[in-house]
Amino acid sequence: MRLPIILDTDPGIDDAAAIAAALFAPELDLQLLTTVAGNVSVEKTTRNALQLLHFWNVDLPVAQGAATPLLRPLRDAAYVHGESGMEGYTFVEHQRQLLEKPAFQAIRDVLIHAPEPVTLVAIGPLTNIALLITHYPECLFNLRRLVIMGGSAGRGNFTPNAEFNIAIDPEAAAKVFQSGLEIVMCGLDVTNQAVLTPEYLATLPTLNQTGRMLHALFSHYRSGSMSSGLRMHDLCAIAWLARPEIFTLKPCFVAVETQGEWTSGTTMVDIEGKLGQPANAQVALGIDVEGFQRWAAEVIARAP
Ligand code: BDR
Ligand code: CA
Repeated sequence: MRLPIILDTDPGIDDAAAIAAALFAPELDLQLLTTVAGNVSVEKTTRNALQLLHFWNVDLPVAQGAATPLLRPLRDAAYVHGESGMEGYTFVEHQRQLLEKPAFQAIRDVLIHAPEPVTLVAIGPLTNIALLITHYPECLFNLRRLVIMGGSAGRGNFTPNAEFNIAIDPEAAAKVFQSGLEIVMCGLDVTNQAVLTPEYLATLPTLNQTGRMLHALFSHYRSGSMSSGLRMHDLCAIAWLARPEIFTLKPCFVAVETQGEWTSGTTMVDIEGKLGQPANAQVALGIDVEGFQRWAAEVIARAP
């Protein structure tokens, strides 16, 4: 039995690798793709998502999500992913259509009608997920768990303490961590280590069409470099679903700072239980890096 999943994403170059894995990992059954503003505007992340599906000739419903964070203007990461959000490869034109409903409603509809609980994977800012929790709590009984790429128990990558996906919409993230949903958090503690090596990256163009496309995108990705290795943040969330044994998780209380003058968007992860609060997330604190690299190579090799 393949695990039914919904992927909420802001492609994004590492998102593109995560979407490939979600489509081609044999353990997973991707049922819906939803987009959110994050790395670039939601119009661009949606365009990128549709282009990827067309590239792979995959028929999958796509719903566009929030254009801005809940309360703040969008600050993007074009400096990491390029102006288009997926700089480096020219995709062919297509006539693919979006679902005529917003992302949070499309997620609700899948959850309500699914014959078994569905796992939601969020690899962008958590705006759509917060909207789902706020507007459709009645569908959450069928949400098996939420797997997030976001946050950090240590340092940040957007501000000194805050990771990008959480920092862009801290109010949404706070709502999600307070929701009582079962949460797996794959933050920078593991994703900064989830590096594809220069030696492996050099083999991509000879692998398959997907390898050629990813190599072109990766050459424009600025979370690491082709010569020192690239951090595959979002791919970690999919890796946890396909190969949970690669990760070490610890149940922790996680709170999101929304007010701090300098710390807004920080995930406060109480690793040692100092605050005496009940754990609200399983936090990934360790990763078998070689295991991750082997799995990533395996799954990319399965793509066309
Ligand atoms: C996260 O930020 C984005 O730029 C990446 O796509 C990833 O989701 C890493 O902090
Ligand atoms: Ca992302």
